[in-house]
Amino acid sequence: MIDPLLEFHGATVLFGGVRALDSITTTIRAGENVAIIGPNGSGKSTLIKLITRELYPLAGNGDTPVKILGESAWDVFKLRSLFGIVSADLQDFFRRPLIGRDVILSGFFGSVGLYPHHEVTGQMQLRADELLQFLSIEHLASKYMTEMSTGEARRMLIARALVHEPKALILDEPSNGLDPRAARKFVDSLRKIAGGGKSVILVTHHLPDIFPEISRVIMLKDGRIFADGPKQEALTSESLSELFAIPVTVIQRNGYYHLMA
Ligand SMILES: Nc1ncnc2c1ncn2[C@@H]1O[C@H](COP(=O)(O)OP(=O)(O)O)[C@@H](O)[C@H]1O
Ligand SMILES: [Mg+2]
Repeated sequence: MIDPLLEFHGATVLFGGVRALDSITTTIRAGENVAIIGPNGSGKSTLIKLITRELYPLAGNGDTPVKILGESAWDVFKLRSLFGIVSADLQDFFRRPLIGRDVILSGFFGSVGLYPHHEVTGQMQLRADELLQFLSIEHLASKYMTEMSTGEARRMLIARALVHEPKALILDEPSNGLDPRAARKFVDSLRKIAGGGKSVILVTHHLPDIFPEISRVIMLKDGRIFADGPKQEALTSESLSELFAIPVTVIQRNGYYHLMA
């Protein structure tokens, strides 16, 4: 049996009277590439925050509500090296005069940029070089984040997220703010990572982000799992119309899916 990376057993999150997540039960295996889709407010980011321990669920009935690699107790610092996280929100923190290489290196310290007390080793520099090359962003190493395009900066954040060789890359709406060409380039980077054996867990409401290596789709609606299964079965016009509560048509072309309103 393949190791479970993430297990949710009846995970529930309440914000005041709002059930942001309502008894979520599902397992994501190591190496699996999964898309999590759903309308605004359906609980996607909350689910991600349970993984990163930015939020804690209500106690489940019996079993532990969230397990990571089979364990329920995790040191937050250790978790950071297990998962690489990229979100459009994260990018806001990097609107400062930081060059690309330092953005990547700061991933080793979980910081936004480097500070005098950070000891950057030769090994860390080598890893940064490796990632610049792997993602074809060498030309951005000395460029300021503030002078990069949104797509370039987003790819820099992927490199930062990969410094620790995480088991999974978790992306929350990563193509927000990217034009179609930049989004495709970004997705090409994700495909390379997914092809290298890491799990990619992609939260999106932009269908063309769901690249061919993603085999499974989890749909969230009103904090519940609306559907969870193989991509081809999940991404139908019927299910997406119901999910987004608006009649839509799904078109599949060259392994990518598109939504027509
Ligand atoms: N910190 C918070 N305080 C109160 N309510 C929140 C908080 N974060 C999220 N919510 C609510 O929880 C629900 C799910 O939010 P979220 O997980 O961010 O949805 P999504 O990422 O799918 O758009 C929404 O109703 C949202 O308003
Ligand atoms: Mg969100």
